[in-house]
Amino acid sequence: MTELYKENDIVIGKVTGIQNYGAFVSFENGQIGLIHISEISAKFVKNIEDYVKVGDQVRVKVLGIEDKNNYLKLSLKALNDRERQKIKKPLIFNKPKRVRVLNSEHDFEKLRLNLDNWINKSLEEQNMIKTDFTNIIENINFESYCYRAKQINDMINNKSGAGNDFLGWTTWPKDYDKEELERMVKCAKYVRDNYDILVVCGIGGSYLGAKAAIDALRGLYSDDKLEIIYLGQTFSPLYIAQVMNYLKEKKFAINVISKSGTTTETSIAFRLVKDLLEKQVGKDEARKSIFATTDKERGALKTLCNTEGYETFVLPDDIGGRYSVLTAVGLFPIACAGLDIKEMIRGAYDAMIKYDNDDIMNNDCYKYAIIRDYFYHHNKSVELFVTYEPSLSHISEWLKQLFGESEGKEGKGLLPGSVTFSTDLHSLGQFIQDGSHILFETIVKVENPSLDIEVPHDDADLDGLNYLEGKTLSFINEKAMQGTIKAHVEDGKVPNIVISVDKMDAYHLGGLFYFFMRACAMSAYLLDINPFNQPGVEIYKRNMFHLLGKKGY
Ligand code: PA5
Repeated sequence: MTELYKENDIVIGKVTGIQNYGAFVSFENGQIGLIHISEISAKFVKNIEDYVKVGDQVRVKVLGIEDKNNYLKLSLKALNDRERQKIKKPLIFNKPKRVRVLNSEHDFEKLRLNLDNWINKSLEEQNMIKTDFTNIIENINFESYCYRAKQINDMINNKSGAGNDFLGWTTWPKDYDKEELERMVKCAKYVRDNYDILVVCGIGGSYLGAKAAIDALRGLYSDDKLEIIYLGQTFSPLYIAQVMNYLKEKKFAINVISKSGTTTETSIAFRLVKDLLEKQVGKDEARKSIFATTDKERGALKTLCNTEGYETFVLPDDIGGRYSVLTAVGLFPIACAGLDIKEMIRGAYDAMIKYDNDDIMNNDCYKYAIIRDYFYHHNKSVELFVTYEPSLSHISEWLKQLFGESEGKEGKGLLPGSVTFSTDLHSLGQFIQDGSHILFETIVKVENPSLDIEVPHDDADLDGLNYLEGKTLSFINEKAMQGTIKAHVEDGKVPNIVISVDKMDAYHLGGLFYFFMRACAMSAYLLDINPFNQPGVEIYKRNMFHLLGKKGY
């Protein structure tokens, strides 16, 4: 039974949120509370962050417990200087439990007014991403990795490792351009109000994150009023010609996305679709329908934006394509799709606070990176990303690019693959179960689908399915997953990792994106690889340009 804190206890907690009226603190036993601004210091407190910051571990005194919800009323100033010092020892946060509480005479009016909302948010933050490492089969000595992983965490934060000029994404959830975000929201509304289709024109990191998010959050057969079509990710004449035919006579806007501004797939598709648009509505109207996301200063696309006066968003210099989903590269099309990009940033922010943590034993993000490293060095060469939701299959595509392009260098790295179950249990299931022992699985799971259906009754029961009558598809899908994990782990000896979120919404997805980017940086640095370049991608381009007769090749 979790022990409740009592009045007058002196306890250690972690600051998980700051409002102008106080600082919220979470505890190992699942209790949560507020240090009201008047309880921060004996001095006049103008800015709470002068005393405590989110992520700080603090020692506080329990002044009382609010009845009903067991919220703690806390004080920093009730402690003497020595007691008040920040705690260096990291906390272990177990699954929070709601526990009953006693009475209190202390009156924090603001606490009462704001607490419910905050408590829910705080619990949401703590539980945002769950991991299950119980089926990894091997007994990994995480402690042996701690020293190196801590060094790498410092290296990421101090920007002292290889590729250090591409670490802007690590603090982006707090440093992002606030004015640009508001402009994106405004422009997205304009697109939604005025067009039937948005053509997203980009490749690799310049489209995968947006597609992953839009599919995951809207589902694959969304009835949203704005259709999203992807272009610029292929040279396929059939695909491009069909898209162009489809767009004829339709009211569409374009979001062209390219950091370099010179990627050939994207440039050709943009030239074609821009030409179609200009022919349909005239050059002036077309200008208003084109939104570009590119480098702040350089590149052919930037020059075109300057000449034509397109509305332009920026991909910062220090963020590379596959780490750019939380910048305008991902956020603008996601906002156009009617999704809440502020919530997505909030989720990423909470994940940043949670996983920028060198207490490796209590950092699931880094533990996941360590497991990958361990398997790489113990005869596994493939990480298979698994989902049980077709709408998440592009999250797997995004993950394949993230890990593949970040780690696959110098003859090293796990090959990232992906399957969608149960569909692929009827194709690759045999290999996974019984084939060569080269792989482990990482399941990306959503606990509660946003829609569900029950199996109906059938009088004749000729298909023999009445034993499932009234059962939901989510229940059946869950049993399929449990049965598969058991088969793969126990019989097939294939290690399984589960990374899950309660529900698929913008907040949780923002957190997941950040979790995987941070894990990828840790994992690549454990391999002694620069996670942020992609020298191998250039070779096919050189050959292709030579064969196409481009000047200088
Ligand atoms: O991760 C990367 O850097 C790549 O996948 C790029 O995003 C992709 O090649 C597209 O490049 P650009 O945005 O310059 O058109």
